Amino acid sequence: MFNLKGRVAVVTGASSGLGRQMCHAFAECGASLVILARRFDRLKELKNELESHGTKVLAIECDVTNTNKINKAAEITEQVFGKVDILVNCAGASRDKGVLEMTDEEWDFTIATDLTSVFKVTRAFGNIMKKNNYGRIINIASMYGLVGNTAMGTVAYHASKGGVVNFTRAVAAELAKYNITCNCICPGYFETELTKAVLDTEDFKNYMKQTVPMGRYGKEGELNAAAIFLGSDEASYVTGTILTVDGGYTAI
Ligand SMILES: NC(=O)c1ccc[n+]([C@@H]2O[C@H](COP(=O)([O-])OP(=O)(O)OC[C@H]3O[C@@H](n4cnc5c(N)ncnc54)[C@H](OP(=O)(O)O)[C@@H]3O)[C@@H](O)[C@H]2O)c1
Repeated sequence: MFNLKGRVAVVTGASSGLGRQMCHAFAECGASLVILARRFDRLKELKNELESHGTKVLAIECDVTNTNKINKAAEITEQVFGKVDILVNCAGASRDKGVLEMTDEEWDFTIATDLTSVFKVTRAFGNIMKKNNYGRIINIASMYGLVGNTAMGTVAYHASKGGVVNFTRAVAAELAKYNITCNCICPGYFETELTKAVLDTEDFKNYMKQTVPMGRYGKEGELNAAAIFLGSDEASYVTGTILTVDGGYTAI
């Protein structure tokens, strides 16, 4: 089970954190990788690492808020591999403020990066999947897409990720006829470049201990199994599902 040999997996946000970790996991299962992010030096580093283990890798500099760059990346991918089997929408960033303080610019930035990007990337790569009558789309939302929080003001992030959750369901329903599944993973707290400054504070660690039943942050690699499952042939009848990997945060 979970053999991805011959599969082509596209991962946005591959230059760092959870995206980078999932690239390693997909490569270990035998997939070829198309890695997307803005920091091309980071992508080159990852490409070298993966290729040294025999994985075929295409690295493309791509800002996921830029429609032309996304469409170009999809075009290049199709030219090189002729198909896309798996798409992981993982790129994300946030401007964190509460609803009463947030500026229009901060709101627009977060919605563009975390929600509208998922639509644009899915449109571009989903059209390639449709031609091949096969696809596994995996959206990385957040447990913050399912609930609010009392630790900090992150209203635009909650709105974006909530949008990704229901976008997932809509796409699952619409693309099922093309044998394309669309599922969503909602991670809890994982230490990455995005979160480290906040997660490392004593205040936040105390908050986490009271709100995460497992009493700890997610560890490097702990998201991978969920992504591999949803990206596999074996998940052929799983679509529109929202899988939390959050140590129980949304269970209480
Ligand atoms: N860490 C957590 O606790 C946590 C929890 C729930 C959900 N998530 C979600 O998981 C995903 C990955 O986050 P992470 O924690 O791994 O953060 P990270 O280490 O900061 O990685 C974010 C990735 O997104 C890419 N990115 C950001 N803006 C982009 C843009 N405009 N165009 C293209 N790429 C862009 C970055 O690449 P470049 O800067 O090189 O472009 C980077 O590869 C995000 O969607 C995040 O919301 C994370």
